[in-house]
Amino acid sequence: MSESFLALESVKTHFPVTKGVIRRKVIGQVKAVDGISLNLKKGEILGLVGESGCGKSTLARTIMQLLPATDGTIVLEGRDLCCLSDAEVRAERINFQMIFQDPYASLNPRMTVFDTLAEAINTRHKCKGQEMLARVGALMKTVGLSPAQMKKYPHEFSGGQRQRIAIARCLAPEPKLVLADEPVSALDVSIQSQILNLIQQLCREMELTMMFISHDLSVVKYIADRIAVMYLGKLVEIGEASEVMENPLHPYTKALVSAIPVPDPDKERSRARIVLEGDPPSPINPPNGCTFHPRCAFATEVCSQTVPELETYQNRLVSCLRTTDVNAD
Ligand SMILES: Nc1ncnc2c1ncn2[C@@H]1O[C@H](COP(=O)(O)OP(=O)(O)OP(=O)(O)O)[C@@H](O)[C@H]1O
Ligand SMILES: [Mg+2]
Repeated sequence: MSESFLALESVKTHFPVTKGVIRRKVIGQVKAVDGISLNLKKGEILGLVGESGCGKSTLARTIMQLLPATDGTIVLEGRDLCCLSDAEVRAERINFQMIFQDPYASLNPRMTVFDTLAEAINTRHKCKGQEMLARVGALMKTVGLSPAQMKKYPHEFSGGQRQRIAIARCLAPEPKLVLADEPVSALDVSIQSQILNLIQQLCREMELTMMFISHDLSVVKYIADRIAVMYLGKLVEIGEASEVMENPLHPYTKALVSAIPVPDPDKERSRARIVLEGDPPSPINPPNGCTFHPRCAFATEVCSQTVPELETYQNRLVSCLRTTDVNAD
């Protein structure tokens, strides 16, 4: 868990906003991902959290090369993915896979589990007959499904089982990097922890490197080694999961952590909660200076004028102009 496996440097993904039907005129840019630098170590699970619309899925799709990066570099094991040709990207793609939020939408309803998994296995190991049957069966067992169900269709399974099939399909090409985009958000709460346990166990056994995306910090803290907090296309804090949860340093992270309910009713009644005012601003016209300043209880004049950079503070990376004052006891 030491060398940098995936390195993002100032990655930007902007979408043009256009006007007019025949002569399309670009009138602005949606800065969905706006200068993200991040390293993932081999075998670690990095949790990426942030409110809806902050650019989490766009970042995942940009890493997967499903969207072109507007700027920056994405280096996977020493190769800059942004410089690869289409054919090279296709060849490289078996090394990185995605798990999506809705397993029902991401699985082909007309394909049996066997067909779905065989297709995915074939991208890495060309085989058929008994060997394929054995591989599909083994994969189903790995994710906690009975091989006896391999001839069934997705609609014949429950939501949790469908997500297990989606996880099996993701693992079939033996990827090195998995981007899980809200993989438990569509599931019943009672099933969520089963799937989280499964993902965590598989990551450890197979030494997978994972970016686990969620809008829910209480889910991320459960599974991640490190947590990266995103706000309006930028990272505001990165650190060890336990440290971020126990002592959040950025005002936005403080608000997210304070929103997590505490199971003890006495503590729950007495704890201080930071309520964020207003909605996240539009990524088309982000506020000047620190983009969080209009909602920040600690903001001063300087926050509306100067753009903060991610800087090291107490073993963490924090992007706040007033980190020291905000965290003074
Ligand atoms: N193809 C696109 N064209 C234009 N704008 C887009 C496109 N895809 C995403 N966006 C915009 O980029 C921003 C980030 O969207 P994204 O889906 O990455 O957010 P998210 O953090 O994944 O949100 P959620 O938690 O709701 O999934 C949003 O403002 C969205 O409207
Ligand atoms: Mg999303």
